[in-house]
Amino acid sequence: MKGVILAGGLGTRLYPLTKVTNKHLLPVGKEPMIYNPIKQLTSAGVTDILVVTSKEHMGDIVRLLGSGEDLGCKFTFKVQERPLGIANALSLAEGFAKKEKIIVILGDNIMTHNIRGYVDAFSKQEKGAKLFLKKVGDPERYGVAALDEKNMIVSMEEKPSNPKSDYAIIGLYMYDEKVFDLIKKIEPSHRGQYEITSVNNIYLENGELTYEVIEGEWTDAGTFESLIQANQMLLKIDNKLVEGSGK
Ligand code: DAU
Repeated sequence: MKGVILAGGLGTRLYPLTKVTNKHLLPVGKEPMIYNPIKQLTSAGVTDILVVTSKEHMGDIVRLLGSGEDLGCKFTFKVQERPLGIANALSLAEGFAKKEKIIVILGDNIMTHNIRGYVDAFSKQEKGAKLFLKKVGDPERYGVAALDEKNMIVSMEEKPSNPKSDYAIIGLYMYDEKVFDLIKKIEPSHRGQYEITSVNNIYLENGELTYEVIEGEWTDAGTFESLIQANQMLLKIDNKLVEGSGK
């Protein structure tokens, strides 16, 4: 399996912290933000990693990460010309994935527990996609999954004004090789973005979606408040991932 880290976008919600640098280079605990998703992948044995970012910040990202030798992995880099959404950024990974399954992490998603168990489980999943949920107090900020009485996902909405549950869909996605064909089928949302939730909804309609509630602590780090929370989370564990059970 291969890994993809999406680190494009404008980071406008963190302005002026992101005036001259990329959000994913800001400190979280004792390391740059992007180290957490990198460690997640390498700790799960995924060492062939594509990093997608904007042309403005590619230079800094490459200067920080290099070939990957120091971090125990091998990096490939791709420029996303315009911030047209997460699914658009992911579409750039098609040639890199070479029809293998992929583990995708949004560069601003921070997790305390390693994901090895989940990656192992997905390697045995015959087809489709796997998503991860977390209960949150402000679901309207995220993609939200509604569950039925049997705890099956019945619908997913991106930033709903009236969320049908408290379960945010976090920025860790596992996909089979079909994902790139599905991305080609989606239309931009009302905010002009190619939403990853639209892609996930096709997997749901096709009956090819599994999910887990992620263990440990999770936050995105895209707002001032969540960036502070991410710092506190990783300082507590000295930026070292906690062994996950994968359940
Ligand atoms: O954090 C989880 C949430 O992330 C999910 O619940 C949502 O379903 C998902 O849409 C996303 O929502 P955000 O509004 O937080 O996404 P944001 O625009 O902040 O982008 C998240 C990361 O994706 C960002 O760190 C960089 C990457 N990205 C984003 C865009 C829009 C790109 O690489 N290219 C892009 O064009």
